[in-house]
Amino acid sequence: MTKEIDQLIANFRPPAFPGSYFISFEGIEGAGKSTQIIQTQRYLESLNFRVLVLREPGGTSFGEKLRKAILESNSPIHPVAEMHLFASSRAQLLHEVTLKELAVPGTIIIYDRYIDSTIAYQGMGRGLGIEAVLKTHQSFPLTLVPHLTLYIAIGLNTSHLRQNKRQIPKDYFERQGNDFYQKLIDGYEKSHELFPERVFKIDGEKDESFVFEEIKRAVHHLIERVR
Ligand SMILES: Nc1ncnc2c1ncn2[C@@H]1O[C@H](COP(=O)(O)OP(=O)(O)OP(=O)(O)O)[C@@H](O)[C@H]1O
Ligand SMILES: [Mg+2]
Repeated sequence: MTKEIDQLIANFRPPAFPGSYFISFEGIEGAGKSTQIIQTQRYLESLNFRVLVLREPGGTSFGEKLRKAILESNSPIHPVAEMHLFASSRAQLLHEVTLKELAVPGTIIIYDRYIDSTIAYQGMGRGLGIEAVLKTHQSFPLTLVPHLTLYIAIGLNTSHLRQNKRQIPKDYFERQGNDFYQKLIDGYEKSHELFPERVFKIDGEKDESFVFEEIKRAVHHLIERVR
């Protein structure tokens, strides 16, 4: 790790709101994020937390427009434009929703994808580099990171098999080839290395109940650590 990346990373911190937590789910298409988010939300609600699930890009009226612009694009978007579109939607969602909701004690905000997706997709997939992504996030509120990131790791084959099962048209990213997916996996592994305390890696090749048990373990560790 270079000294410059070290210095950049030192700026990223989770928000400090007593009794509230910020959690993100990460992993390539078909990892099981949506499946596990539903279960995790239900579980946390049973522990009396108020749980809000947000997705990127989107979650605000401005963000939903950006989401459509990216995911439904039929022509290539320049990687730098793509990174800024995601960062733009992220800043708006943090400002408009996340920070306000976290101020209510006992709230858990769950993001379906966050900064590690930008590291994986734009940093590695599109080749901008991780430093470029971290630098783009150097202003508040983009310096906010989750207390806990659940990285569900699967291989290329599993991703393809699970995507094919879904039988819905492939979106902008799903149309990319194997080389691109391998870069995404490398990007997530790099995030896990750079943010070892925040990013908890789970073997997503295992069955759904195994993955969920791992999630519960990580969540309990977080809640007990911060309290
Ligand atoms: N651990 C698992 N073992 C087997 N199948 C799984 C597992 N987790 C999820 N699946 C199945 O894989 C498919 C994709 O799961 P899901 O939609 O949760 O992935 P995702 O990470 O949200 O993908 P995307 O990034 O495309 O939204 C679904 O059909 C789901 O039922
Ligand atoms: Mg999903």
